[in-house]
Amino acid sequence: SPIPPPDLKSCSKAHINETEEVSYSCCPPKPEDMDSVPYYKFPSMTKLRIRPPAHAADEEYIAKYQLATSRMRELDKDPFDPLGFKQQANIHCAYCNGAYKVGGKELQVHFSWLFFPFHRWYLYFYERILGSLIGDPTFGLPYWNWDHPKGMRLPPMFDREGSSLYDEKRNQSHRNGTIIDLGHFGDEVQTTQLQMMTNNLTLMYRQMITNAPCPLLFFGAPYPLGTDPSPGMGTIENIPHTPVHIWTGDNPRQPNGENMGNFYSAGLDPVFYCHHANVDRMWSEWKAIGGKRRDLSNKDWLNSEFFFYDENRNPYKVKVRDCLDTKKMGYDYAPMPTPWRNFKP
Ligand code: C2O
Repeated sequence: SPIPPPDLKSCSKAHINETEEVSYSCCPPKPEDMDSVPYYKFPSMTKLRIRPPAHAADEEYIAKYQLATSRMRELDKDPFDPLGFKQQANIHCAYCNGAYKVGGKELQVHFSWLFFPFHRWYLYFYERILGSLIGDPTFGLPYWNWDHPKGMRLPPMFDREGSSLYDEKRNQSHRNGTIIDLGHFGDEVQTTQLQMMTNNLTLMYRQMITNAPCPLLFFGAPYPLGTDPSPGMGTIENIPHTPVHIWTGDNPRQPNGENMGNFYSAGLDPVFYCHHANVDRMWSEWKAIGGKRRDLSNKDWLNSEFFFYDENRNPYKVKVRDCLDTKKMGYDYAPMPTPWRNFKP
């Protein structure tokens, strides 16, 4: 059977690794009537939100996004406001660092077929909250276009000190236009910028095409209720999703790769949501390749559920089956070419 939404009443301390606990609680505020949380219904909409590639965003867009993010940070004054920036980051901590139990086991939304749908729903609400904080119902999150040579660096809008989009806990030697290594697991590869970009495109081809010809290889291994968490990652979750986290986080100065390099802290870096917008975009791009590249049809996947607050602070249950079509959800991606499609090794 499918994974049900987490029971907030049993939410407990999250842990960073086997021995170390997160020093604060990652649990969300509990809704008054936990047992009658309704299913989410899409609000009516008139215009699609279009998510732009971050590297190409203009100053007007950047100003809006900065303002929305600083307003969200201001909401942290009330530590129990579910729309606050820290509460939003704690969603990731709670779902990924063992705060929730389902079926007597720790819930983990990574390393399985829950990876793509969980993060899609998470960004969906995060984007709506930002839009509502600036009164813009068409606001779309930017995507970190790391699969295109022009996007293979920390998007400049996140690298401005003093901005609400800046985060101090990042690897300082990966700033100012350093080309990202999409295969980064800690070692610095010494090569030319051109070679690095070529390697990245070849790696994208491998993860999107060669190694992911069918749904389970792309989405990750089945994770029905009662089975052990973390049965196995899909190709993109493994690489480049994880390397982008590790490359961005401040491994040299922080004990656990904070912020981006650890589940409990990743959401504390605003670039997390920009990174995941591109991960989410890869889901759409993968389906667009065609052939057997379709969503899973397994009911245990389709009927798995999560819990979120919407931009009006109302709690909802959501189902995987309702997040398969981004246009139905009210958003789409501004198109960018996918040059990796021509990088067959
Ligand atoms: Cu939930 Cu990029 O990790």
